[in-house]
Amino acid sequence: MNIQERLKKIARKQRWLIRYYFNRKYSENDPYFLTTSDFERNKMEHVVRVLKEYSPKDTMMEVGCGEGILANLIAGDIGQYEGFDISQKAITRAIERNKNHANVSFQVRDFYKMSLPEKHYDVMIFSEVLFYFSLEELQPIPGKIFEALKPNAYLVLVHCRATGDDESGNMIKDYGAKTIHDLFVHFREFELMQDEWDENYRITVLKRAE
Ligand SMILES: C[S@@+](CC[C@H](N)C(=O)[O-])C[C@H]1O[C@@H](n2cnc3c(N)ncnc32)[C@H](O)[C@@H]1O
Repeated sequence: MNIQERLKKIARKQRWLIRYYFNRKYSENDPYFLTTSDFERNKMEHVVRVLKEYSPKDTMMEVGCGEGILANLIAGDIGQYEGFDISQKAITRAIERNKNHANVSFQVRDFYKMSLPEKHYDVMIFSEVLFYFSLEELQPIPGKIFEALKPNAYLVLVHCRATGDDESGNMIKDYGAKTIHDLFVHFREFELMQDEWDENYRITVLKRAE
């Protein structure tokens, strides 16, 4: 293991550092260009189309919800929505953006430390967030998510295909959709409903078996 990899490993274990990193990121509005980049807008529309296909009139949760942009687009089509993000700054903006949607709520939470209610959600979505966990940390996550889904409920995964550090020198991201989604696809109790490979990202929908 080289020095950079060692530093990454140490940094990942410091949850306060990860929180700090994302709060710094959100010191500017829309740091991931979700409202300004055509690529991001088209991708978000694609995600919304998929969600509308699987979204029930019941309970949905999103981890890594950022400023609540996706919530704002789908609030009219779902029952209850719960959004979680590690960044207080992002959540403050998410609440403001969605203040007219009574069915939408947000909380600051680190998914790594979160315990989830059992058989509770009808849809869970993780979009561009699971690559912030190490491979070791990822291993128990399919089981944790499985337990929180109701029987026959859906998990939607959206992650970029790019691997390695991004151009800003992001120290946390190591791998992308192939590694992450395959882990869930091969988790024995998920049934694969849909698996779309775009040139840049992958959208996978899985169902919790009974
Ligand atoms: C790359 S952004 C993705 C935002 C949006 N979901 C999307 O698809 O564009 C990653 C988001 O995940 C959040 N995040 C990262 N690690 C997290 C964790 N451990 N628990 C909760 N949220 C986390 C970040 O604050 C950020 O809002």
